[in-house]
Order: sequence, then C-alpha cells, then structure tokens
Amino acid sequence: MKKRYTLEQKKWDAPVEHAMPTHARVPASFSIGGVHIAPATVLAPMAGVTDTVFRRFIKNASQFSATSDNVDVDSATTNAQSGCGQIMTEFTSADGLARMRETKRKRYLTYYDDEHPISAQLFGSNPETLAESARIVEDAGFDLVDLNLGCPAKRVVACNGGSGLLRDLPQIERIFKAIRAAVTIPFTVKFRLGWNDKHIICVPLAKMAEDCGLNAVALHARTREDGYTGQARWEYIAQVKDAVSIPVIGNGDIRTPQDAAAMVERTGCDAVMIGRAAPANPWIFRQIAQYTASKEATGVGTYDIPTDQDRYRMIRTYFQMLVDEIAIEEAAEAARAAAIVASGQIAREQRHRDAVGKMKQFAAWFTHGVPGGGALRKAIFEAKNGNAVLSEVERFFEASELTESADDSAPEDASMSLEALGAGCD
Ligand SMILES: Cc1cc2nc3c(=O)[nH]c(=O)nc-3n(C[C@H](O)[C@H](O)[C@H](O)COP(=O)(O)O)c2cc1C
Repeated sequence: MKKRYTLEQKKWDAPVEHAMPTHARVPASFSIGGVHIAPATVLAPMAGVTDTVFRRFIKNASQFSATSDNVDVDSATTNAQSGCGQIMTEFTSADGLARMRETKRKRYLTYYDDEHPISAQLFGSNPETLAESARIVEDAGFDLVDLNLGCPAKRVVACNGGSGLLRDLPQIERIFKAIRAAVTIPFTVKFRLGWNDKHIICVPLAKMAEDCGLNAVALHARTREDGYTGQARWEYIAQVKDAVSIPVIGNGDIRTPQDAAAMVERTGCDAVMIGRAAPANPWIFRQIAQYTASKEATGVGTYDIPTDQDRYRMIRTYFQMLVDEIAIEEAAEAARAAAIVASGQIAREQRHRDAVGKMKQFAAWFTHGVPGGGALRKAIFEAKNGNAVLSEVERFFEASELTESADDSAPEDASMSLEALGAGCD
C-alpha cells in the first residue's frame, strides 16, 4: 500500500528522558533580522497540521484551561501568554504559488492579524521561481520567509525540493542568493543534517546561509535517510551554533519543557522549534513559559498539567474553530462568486456598449445615400441599447418611401463616420 505523509508515521521511536537541567532555560526572546520574537519558541511547520486554525489554536492554548471562564479565540492572546513566539505556515510549493491565480494564492497564504510574527515556508528547486514566490510572500504581509531543505517526502525529493537539495550545495547557494535579492523581509532556512551519514553538510550549509545574507537557520538534527527514526542528534545543532553568528533554532524531539531547556543547555541554540509535541500537547508552549518563569523565580521549574476538563475544552475549541473556519471560507467563496457575477454583469454591459458603439459607427456608412438617412442616424445616435437601435432601423425602413435620389447629407456623413471611426479606435 502507498505510504502516506501523516502524523501517525512520525511518532517518537524511544523518547529519551532528559535530566532537568539546573541552569539552562529557553531564552526570553531573540531576533531574526529586525523581527523580535518573544519567547524564543517556534511552532514547527507541519504539512496538513499547521494551517491558520491550528496556528491560532496553539497561540490561544492558554485559554483551554479550567481557570479561563470563556474561550474566546478571537481575543488576542499575547505571545508571552501563549508561550509561542513565532509560527510558520506548512510548506508551500513555490512552483504552485507562482502559477496560481491570486484568489487561489490567498487560500494558501491565509493568516489572521493575531498570527504575527509569522513566517511562510516555501519549497522548490528553481531559484527564479522561489524568488518570485518569496516576493509574493512578502507582498502578502508575512514577517519572514523560510526555505524548506528538510522535507523527506519522495514526491518532493523527486523534484529536487526539500531534503533532495541537500545533495547539491551549489544549487542551494544559487537559491539563497536569488531569494535574498528578491525580498527585504528576514529570510531563514530549515534543513536537516544532510542526505545521510556519509554526507553530513549542516555546518557548511549554515555558513553558506550566513554568507548569503540569511538571517537565521533552523536545524532538524536528523538526516534525510533517518526520516523520523532514532534520536535527533543535538550535537550537530551545537556544531552549527559554533560555526555561525546568525541565530540558530534547534529542532528535534522536544516533548517537554525539560527537553526544551536541555536542548538549549546542550547546544547553546538561540531558540527551540517544536513540531509533533504541539498537536499532542497544545499547552507545551505555555508549559515551557511556566517552567522558565518558575525556575527563574524559585530555582525549581514547574508547570501546569492539563486536566481532563482542559483536554475536553481544548478538543471542543479546536473542532469549533474548524467549523467556524468553514463558515468563513464559505462566506469568502460567496463573496468571490458575487464578485464574479458582478464582473460578468460589467462585462455584459460593456459588450452591449461596444455593440451599440459599432452600430453608431457603421450607421454613418450604411445610411450613406439613403433618403432621409440623417434622421435615422440621429435616432440611432440617441438610442440607449442594441434593441433600441434595431427598432429605430425597423421603424425607419417601414415608414420611409425609399427613392433612388442621393442622400442629401453626404458631407455630414463623411465627417461623422470619421468621428465614429475615431471613437472606435484605441
Ligand atoms: C505531519 C508532519 C508534517 C511536517 N511538515 C513539514 C513541513 O511542511 N515543513 C518542514 O520544514 N517540516 C515539516 N515537518 C517536520 C517538522 O517541522 C519537524 O522538523 C520535525 O517534526 C521534528 O521536530 P519534532 O521532533 O519537534 O516533531 C513535518 C513533520 C510532521 C510530523
């Protein structure tokens, strides 16, 4: 059976319990380019998971506890309250984005005001297309743009995207330069250690990113061949941190606040990125914030463990948000459909105007030499639509007694025809 790219395949193999580090804690903030991120935690991009509903759900997770009376996901929860400093879209195909019509693009790049700071992740292998898509992302108001060099999925690798590019550093450099030249917003890259153990390139890649003007790097400390198996090898995050001076975001196997603190302690990374733990425990960001604050205050890190009631509220809220989003999307679709109908109406009216314009233009020529043609031209010029013009023609020819005599207004015709012809040209 065909393997699907799902969350289920990506469980932790054999989670390691990290001893509670004595001093280390997740930094209160860090900056990527000019973007201030506080606290230094990032929700990892996850295809099929981190859409706008899930991202806002995570940012509002502090509300799903029994201590909050009303869950109001539309009320702004600060990043300090949610504990999640930055969010990212799931990966989006640069080729697709560049080809799509604007309305369709909007669906892929949907985000709400309370999602800032937000990064859009792109994948692809063509420098020009990626640069063009990065520009689209910038124009859409994203705070940052990220390049995916980690996706192990076969259909992505087959097109040389995601981790497929890890075998081609010169092409990565071309892509880095093209995107960097295309946008002014901070530009980051998320990558794996390398293709396999024989080809670990995370340090040279991070240095190249820095040299090309990227503003931060995020490392999922596994190779492409590792997939999601084994343990993330945090020692490589430490090596990357030693090698560059732009911020390094560590990623891989953080399941608890203790893990997050342990990663910072062992690697010196500037921020932590959390993926699979977020859908399993949407409170993780808030727990990290609680753990950090309590440790700072008392030396002992503690955090709330969600109750069954909290979990119930969390599930209900997420499902309700999904249902609400359908209504929002349907309303947007209806508005789009109404706009299409309206533009169809405008186009129809324009077509009628053009046809009548043509009739008026040709009336001058067609009535040349017709006795009393001046009256018909006048009637045609005053008519409001095609049918009215036709009626005038019918009436005229029914009523008139056609003679062989020449039209008495030929000179006038000539000037009108030129005028009419002129009006029809552009
Ligand atoms: C369902 C799923 C989808 C993912 N999609 C993406 C993606 O679109 N872009 C990306 O860079 N990484 C993607 N990843 C990888 C995660 O961002 C992260 O690097 C990985 O899960 C390791 O972090 P964790 O141990 O905290 O989960 C995905 C992971 C999962 C489980």
